[in-house]
Amino acid sequence: MVKSSFLVICFASLTAGLLIGEFSDWRPPFRLPHSPLHSEKLLQKAKPLISSTVTIIPPEQYERWIEHQTHISFEGIIKNIGGYGPGLEDVMRGAVIASPSKSHPDYYYQWTRDSGITINTLIMNYADNNATNATLRDIIYDYINSSRIIQRQSNPSGTFENLEGLGEPKFKVDGRPFTAPWGRPQRDGPALRAIAMLNFVNTELKYNESGVTYESFRDIFDNVIRPDLDYVGLKWQYDGFDLWEELKGKHFFTSMCHRRALISGSDLAQKLGYADATIFYQTQASYLTQFISDYFYDHKKGHLVETFGNHKRSGLDSALFLGSIHALDLLLWSGKADVTDIYPPYSDEVLASLVQHITDMRYRYPINLRRLKTFESLGVNISLVGIGVGRYPEDIYNGVAESEGNPWFLCTATVSHTLYLLADYLYTRTSDFTLKLTEHTLPLLGMFLDKVEGFDWSDPSFELKRSSPDFDTVVLRILAYGDSFLDVIREHVDSKGSMSEQFSRYDGYMRGAEDLTWSYGAFWSAVRQRKLVYGRIK
Ligand code: NOJ
Ligand code: NOJ
Repeated sequence: MVKSSFLVICFASLTAGLLIGEFSDWRPPFRLPHSPLHSEKLLQKAKPLISSTVTIIPPEQYERWIEHQTHISFEGIIKNIGGYGPGLEDVMRGAVIASPSKSHPDYYYQWTRDSGITINTLIMNYADNNATNATLRDIIYDYINSSRIIQRQSNPSGTFENLEGLGEPKFKVDGRPFTAPWGRPQRDGPALRAIAMLNFVNTELKYNESGVTYESFRDIFDNVIRPDLDYVGLKWQYDGFDLWEELKGKHFFTSMCHRRALISGSDLAQKLGYADATIFYQTQASYLTQFISDYFYDHKKGHLVETFGNHKRSGLDSALFLGSIHALDLLLWSGKADVTDIYPPYSDEVLASLVQHITDMRYRYPINLRRLKTFESLGVNISLVGIGVGRYPEDIYNGVAESEGNPWFLCTATVSHTLYLLADYLYTRTSDFTLKLTEHTLPLLGMFLDKVEGFDWSDPSFELKRSSPDFDTVVLRILAYGDSFLDVIREHVDSKGSMSEQFSRYDGYMRGAEDLTWSYGAFWSAVRQRKLVYGRIK
């Protein structure tokens, strides 16, 4: 045990040393990262330490692109919703199609997961605008109504009465069941749908623009939210397919979503006076806490693993960061740590997984190597240069068939999202906080600590006090690194800002289903978090 962790330390510092050693002589070719959002005061302090930008275009242009792409992404989601998007006459009102692509691949279906996640994005926007946007409110109600119908369709996974039907992964766009063979059930869907609806109810009550009370939502709770919560509470121990629809088993992403749904669900159940449901959801959530902590962190590997007991894969997976993010109460997130959160984006375990995932992806795809070389030739410290990120190292799905995997827009955006949450968490710490490293987080946090006084790559016992003048610099570097991943997305969207599912590992051109709703949602959500944290710094 002692021996193996010693080896890990040696290996970590060796690779870290190589990276830093090789690129320590760079000169700053560009101006400092600058945007109207950056605080001038902070930047002045940080100047000596942030030595170059990690986006290839000038900062003002980058900010303009972010604004523009954020708008396009939001529209991209709406365009894929029945009743709102053009040319979707055959789509049920309020149903979200995964993509308009009808062949190679055929994604012209409504997936419970994609819909729940992307409707939740709309709900975040709705909440950010104090619940005033009536069009968004209509869309969300249409989604809830379409969910009510979909939930009641008997399908190959089961029925509404035995609840198993709720785990069916996808339906036809008009709401009829899809009956061909598929990886089913997928148990994350009901949780994600419930999380979205719970966020909506809480938003309505918080801003109360339409004069609602808890009572106003009793019908929705009883007939739409509650079946999903009961499903989660009763079925979370059973195997199901993962979010990528490939492996049957128990999955980190799925369990993390289950836990969030039950925690938020028990809260609303209590408000509505359902004592039994409140306790049932609470109890199951606490079992899930135990289950997740016992089964998904691999101490030998020093990272989380997505599917429990799968020995064919490393376990590194973008699903880990998606799971960590979707398990947060994003509606209430204010940078403040919720002590009850488990494996939040700023936890040592998630950060250790993130750096190993990025390191794998960096050298896996030729476009990443080319990007790093370009920056290197410009004299930039490439350890803080973003790259295209795929689902997981062993992926062979090319967007249409099986050959070789590619980087995905949604996975790349999710890395930025994780980094923005980390930056937000650190920035909002009180003055008594100290950032501590571990042997597993050193390779990531070390990149942000480079040249900070007293920091040494060979010493994981280094600590940085919140009150140190270098602390804010570290936060800005984390943000800049997050920006650099979004910059990769900028390089691969088309001239209209369209995003498919993937971009080719060889030439960077888009691959797979076009206008993937989830790609837009993931981008929009990452930028939302970016704005929140820059807003706090200002
Ligand atoms: C389609 C699934 O949606 C995708 O996630 C999976 O990788 C491929 N099928 C495997 O062929
Ligand atoms: C394949 C992805 O693996 C899965 O997560 C997604 O739900 C479907 N495509 C639809 O976008």
